[in-house]
Amino acid sequence: MNDFPSFLSALRPEVDEALDRLLPGAETEPAEIHEAMRYSVFAGGKRVRPALVVLAGEAWGGAREDLLVGGAALEMVHTFSLIHDDLPALDDDDLRRGRPTLHRARGEAMAVLAGDALLNRAYEVLSREPASAPPERRLQAVRLVADAVGTAGMIGGQVFDLQHEGGVRGSDAESLERIHRLKTGALIEASTRLGGVYAGAGSEGIEQAGRIGAELGLLFQIGDDILDEVGSSEELGKTPGKDRQAGKLTYPGLFGLEGSRKKALQAADRCLGLIEGLPSGRELFRALVAFLVHRGS
Ligand code: IPE
Ligand code: IPE
Ligand code: MG
Ligand code: MG
Ligand code: MG
Repeated sequence: MNDFPSFLSALRPEVDEALDRLLPGAETEPAEIHEAMRYSVFAGGKRVRPALVVLAGEAWGGAREDLLVGGAALEMVHTFSLIHDDLPALDDDDLRRGRPTLHRARGEAMAVLAGDALLNRAYEVLSREPASAPPERRLQAVRLVADAVGTAGMIGGQVFDLQHEGGVRGSDAESLERIHRLKTGALIEASTRLGGVYAGAGSEGIEQAGRIGAELGLLFQIGDDILDEVGSSEELGKTPGKDRQAGKLTYPGLFGLEGSRKKALQAADRCLGLIEGLPSGRELFRALVAFLVHRGS
């Protein structure tokens, strides 16, 4: 299959099934929080991170069943990051994945707690499953994700993002790239690395998977910035134009739309170069890069 959207839509039911199995039931007490977690998880995200765990893991011969566990855990982490990113204290957004944001729909308290609970659940899952994996492998997975989420990863990136809002700090290309590599790139890099871990790719294989993920992550966030400028709320399932309104440091803000597209193509070229070194699955990875360059949502 050399068409990434088809791969993604074929994988989606498997990802959703894993998420359904690994999350507490909506009726389990306290039902209010479990329902809130599911409201955001099953709102219709693209599932790019689970797809990356599967894609990278299968390139090194990993088992789909194991990879879906890691993918589901990362989707929980990602959904937590979105719920908190949308809070009034951060980006203050009303629409996410085509629905009212969780704090709009269920109140701020439940949005904060559901985010916390999703992050916590992800670590529970990573430490427990796949039960057949050696304990060191599960420990490696927990450690890898914790590093990617932490202050040297996604959370650190969110802090830099906030610090640069409104042009308070310098708007230079280096700061911008650092924000994007951390706030978004770290979790995408963790996705490809995790695939390598579950597949037993060895340290060189995991590094190789990580290098591809890091460039894919930068490409992904440049695309997100471009879509904030040119997309519609119907296409995106979130409100466009918010970055400019909040004075965020973004690629279109610093380089213009054409300049941003050029930066995206440069990142895509770096990805394509790295993909050549993969043991298998190169065609689907190339299709993924094309998807990220042309995506409309
Ligand atoms: C949006 O991520 C937030 C970023 C990190 C750019 P996605 O574009 O993957 O959002 P969903 O999961 O499809 O909703
Ligand atoms: C999101 O960046 C990064 C994280 C959620 C960690 P954005 O703030 O640009 O994401 P959107 O545009 O709200 O999805
Ligand atoms: Mg943000
Ligand atoms: Mg945001
Ligand atoms: Mg954005």
